[in-house]
Parts: sequence; structure tokens; C-alpha cells
Amino acid sequence: KRILVMNGPNLNMLGVREPGIYGKQSLQSIEEMLRAQAEKLSVSITFYQSNHEGELIDRIHASLGEVDGILLNAGAFTHYSYAIRDALGAVKIPAIELHLSNIHARESFRHTSVIAPVTIGQISGFGAYSYEHALNAMYRYLETQDC
Ligand code: DQA
Repeated sequence: KRILVMNGPNLNMLGVREPGIYGKQSLQSIEEMLRAQAEKLSVSITFYQSNHEGELIDRIHASLGEVDGILLNAGAFTHYSYAIRDALGAVKIPAIELHLSNIHARESFRHTSVIAPVTIGQISGFGAYSYEHALNAMYRYLETQDC
């Protein structure tokens, strides 16, 4: 199985950016943790981060036929990017939305996800472990799709 982990705007600043909310771990160190987990699960994993909506959309399109599942932290695009939502809807690759912080416990503009309706589900609030939970969830999801 091939899993793509996608991170949107400002997530390249993890570790430096509001550590009280997002934690002290860098994106690179989260990716290392996921790489080790993927090895244990015997799945292949790739990573992509962009601060640009169009680049994220291009990467989703390029995943067609190349990727079995997407873990997506779209950052603030979560709350208003109909274009990213439509890209996921177009490729129909199973996706899990994830967030480090609990978006439902924060400012009201973060309570809405326009992406959630085209995903399997949402994981939010477990810090860096949201990524780990999302990878496990995708692994189990793809496993049940196989039988
Ligand atoms: C975030 C939550 C978003 O509201 C915010 O804009 C981010 C990060 C999270 O991982 O908690 O950039 O997606």
C-alpha cells in the first residue's frame, strides 16, 4: 500500500510556530516518526508539503493511480478551500483529514471543515500523534477494503 502524507500552509514552520498549540516537534521529526511506523506496517510512505493551494491540488491530481490513501493536514485551507475539497472528490482516493490541535475547541472559524465531507474521517487534537493515529486508521481502512 502506498500512502501520501500531505501538509499545507505553515506546517513547514512546526516547532517554531506557536509551540503551545502545535508542539515543539518539527515537521521533519514527525515525518521520521511516520517513516518508522510505515516500515513496521510494511506500507510505503511519501511526504509532501506546500504553502500553495494550487500545488496541493496538483499533487492530489498526480496521486491518481499512484497512491492508495492520503493523510491530509490542509492547515487553514481546511476551513475554506473548496478547490482542495473538489480535488479530493475528483480523484476519489481515500483520505483522512488530520490536525495537531483540536479545531473544535478553538476559534469558531476553525470549527468548519469544508474538506471533511470528502474524507473517511477526521482526527484532531492529538498533537504529533494525530499523524500516527491517522496512519494506523488508514492502514486499517485499506486492510478492510481488501477483503
Ligand atoms: C491545523 C489547524 C488549522 O486551523 C490551522 O490553520 C493550521 C494547523 C492543525 O494541525 O491543528 O495551520 O490544521
